[in-house]
Amino acid sequence: MPVLVASAPGRVNLIGEHTDYNGGLCLPLALPQRTTISLVPRTDRALSLSSAQEEGVWEGRAEDRPDGWAAYVAGVVQALRDDGHDVPGFEASIDSEVPVGAGLSSSAALECSVATALAALLGLDLDDRAVRRELAEACIRAENDYVGAPTGGMDQTVAMLARAGHALLLDFADGSATPVELPLEEAGLVLLVIDTRVSHALTDGSYGNRRSESADAARALGVQSLADADPRRIDALDDPMLRRRARHVVTENLRVLQAVGAIGDRSWDALAAVLDASHVSMRDDFEISCRELDLAVETARASGALGARMTGGGFGGSAIALVPRAVVPDVQESVTKAFADACLDHPAYLVATPGEAARIESVS
Ligand code: GLA
Repeated sequence: MPVLVASAPGRVNLIGEHTDYNGGLCLPLALPQRTTISLVPRTDRALSLSSAQEEGVWEGRAEDRPDGWAAYVAGVVQALRDDGHDVPGFEASIDSEVPVGAGLSSSAALECSVATALAALLGLDLDDRAVRRELAEACIRAENDYVGAPTGGMDQTVAMLARAGHALLLDFADGSATPVELPLEEAGLVLLVIDTRVSHALTDGSYGNRRSESADAARALGVQSLADADPRRIDALDDPMLRRRARHVVTENLRVLQAVGAIGDRSWDALAAVLDASHVSMRDDFEISCRELDLAVETARASGALGARMTGGGFGGSAIALVPRAVVPDVQESVTKAFADACLDHPAYLVATPGEAARIESVS
């Protein structure tokens, strides 16, 4: 039996939050931190799964619908079978560098590592972008229908299609994915991820509430997707909460375009200003920030970051800050001190250099 080793990255979103399921734009990049799976096929349909980050071994079949982390693996198996692939059982061990609950898409990294290993086993051509898209779609269905997290498609799409050194402009209106070169290093800048250690979960209802409020706002505005709403009509919405939700989505979509323009012009101050505006919109209009994220963003700004915002689904997780390389230690020290002064847990930091998409590491 072959041993297939595959890996897939976590992601951080530069800008464009809660726009994916609203038919809009976002600009994520793959992290250098990855989840790796080592998979050996079996002659039956049983799964035997272990993870270096979790206790015990899960054994069963995809139809058993496990809870917890095993569901992301079994969900991908089920989704690929639903697509007509003859996926055998397997033994797999998983190891991940992507922090869980930090808003950095550890679940998409796990799903996409499984899908990539199985694609190689099934003889699918991972150099074909259409195959990668099909795998991303299977991972999205695993998350939505099997795990039951009502997420959009940003995380799995970037994990399957990312390009090193680039962010990926995703347009959920036409399905396009366009690499955008992100030469932060030559600009002397670092994209610093600040993990607040406030664990966020996409299955706890808050994320789903925003999704249904967005659908309500789209309905009230008579549009299929909220990202298409006419900004002038939003102010006329009766419900102030729906007005705020719609305003976030429509203005965030514009900010993604502004960010792409600023990156193209190598105008880093302009990019930073758009990041700042995005945070304000998520804090005040979409109401998905929290005290810890606001503190991380404000302290990073006050200690030398050019701009900062929370990233990902919200209600905890991580913030990002665009920081001149020389002041990264100052920013980290200031944020750590601000958290200690506020009696909060010690935050964690990572540097987001744009990494590669899911890949096969070895077949032996
Ligand atoms: C989570 C979801 C994504 C996206 C972001 C918010 O990461 O998985 O689909 O909606 O939140 O932008």
